[in-house]
Amino acid sequence: MNRHLHPALLALPLFVSSPWAQTPATLRDAADAIGLNFGLATNSFQVGNASSAYAVAAAAQFNLAVCENEMKFESTENPIGKFNYSGGDAVYKFVSANKMKMRGHNFVWGGQSSSAQAAVHDRATGLRILKTHIDSVGGHFKTKILEWDVLNEITNDGGSGGLKNIFWKTNIGDDYADSALVFSRRAIGTNGYLYSNDYSADGVNAKSTSILNMATKWIQKGVPIDGIGFQCHLSTGINKADISANIKRFGDLGLRVSLTEIDIKQAKTADWTALMGACLENYNCVSFVTWGLTDASSWIGSTCGCLLYNGSTPAPKTDFINALIDAMAHADPTITAKRKAFIQRTPGTTALYARNAVFRTPSSGWLGAAAVPLYSNGAKGAVDILGRNQPVAPRSPWAAGLGILPQ
Ligand code: G3I
Repeated sequence: MNRHLHPALLALPLFVSSPWAQTPATLRDAADAIGLNFGLATNSFQVGNASSAYAVAAAAQFNLAVCENEMKFESTENPIGKFNYSGGDAVYKFVSANKMKMRGHNFVWGGQSSSAQAAVHDRATGLRILKTHIDSVGGHFKTKILEWDVLNEITNDGGSGGLKNIFWKTNIGDDYADSALVFSRRAIGTNGYLYSNDYSADGVNAKSTSILNMATKWIQKGVPIDGIGFQCHLSTGINKADISANIKRFGDLGLRVSLTEIDIKQAKTADWTALMGACLENYNCVSFVTWGLTDASSWIGSTCGCLLYNGSTPAPKTDFINALIDAMAHADPTITAKRKAFIQRTPGTTALYARNAVFRTPSSGWLGAAAVPLYSNGAKGAVDILGRNQPVAPRSPWAAGLGILPQ
């Protein structure tokens, strides 16, 4: 104890004379304090040298990372049957050395999947390749990944609803998406949260409504889904209220929401604070991930003005960074407390928290027990072509999502 200070003063924060006395020093500190994952997309060549300016900034400011490219299908399984985890392993080494978390991006996409596209010819090969890929990559990384983009960009654009015509769908059929989620739960168990991730669905619009409808059906059927990713490839003029309302309606279904690939073209400080504000208003908004560290390394181009750092040095955009720290430091403590409780939920338990409307009618209680199929390990179901058991009647309304455990 410092005997020169009065004991009452010892309870006060240090540096009380500073205007930033209560303000965390870094984005990471601010995010940690409110139970938020604050992440960046990166690559092994960027974080492989732990003492580089890039790696030092990434570890200081972020508590989560995701591979920008190196865990996609054609990076991890190319050709089919030949697995390569080196990129993901190298990023995980950085993540683990710095006590960060990691997202997994992605199992199923129409893009960067050339090896799968060349090998998938029909439903049977498609399902086999899909399952083997998820078993292998998911099995390798399962204790390392917090959130998995099982499905990436699968939803039709606009309001038409339904699934995009990517090779997984045209060869397997619409149930490829359900199967990928079921295979993932089996491969990963309850180690990580399973997501569907999409673009241009960040606010309330026809596309996000069709994702909402799809997620509702998954929950009703017992297909395991824990969260929805909104990519947030945005431009200046962010509409906080619109994005906040969208996050909320997925929360009403019991779902996590992660903002997964944020960049904001020609961003102003107000854009970053609006997007962060939309997240902070919702306890189910759990991750805020920028799609890269610097404009110089962005897929959009070095002049996009879209990320939190500039140049190859990298140089922090302090206005953006300080505004985000300030927003997080002033987050509503009630919502923060709810978020901290929400993030403790076990993967696979979404249905327990879905709003009543999904499973109940106002007057008659639970919706038809026999009408809602559950894919169960129970003795009644024989294994079908998808590697799932036949639908059986739910054992209880609470069992949805829990019946599908690793076999
Ligand atoms: O790896 C090859 C390399 O061998 C070759 O020499 C070089 C020549 O151009 O290309 C390299 O591949 C590039 C790859 O990134 C890996 O760096 C591709 O050209 C390039 O097109 C590819 O771009 C990625 C893009 O996905 C592909 O669709 C971006 O880096 C990545 O940021 C972007 O990420 C996607 C998300 O996964 C999903 N949502 C949209 C987002 C932005 O497009």
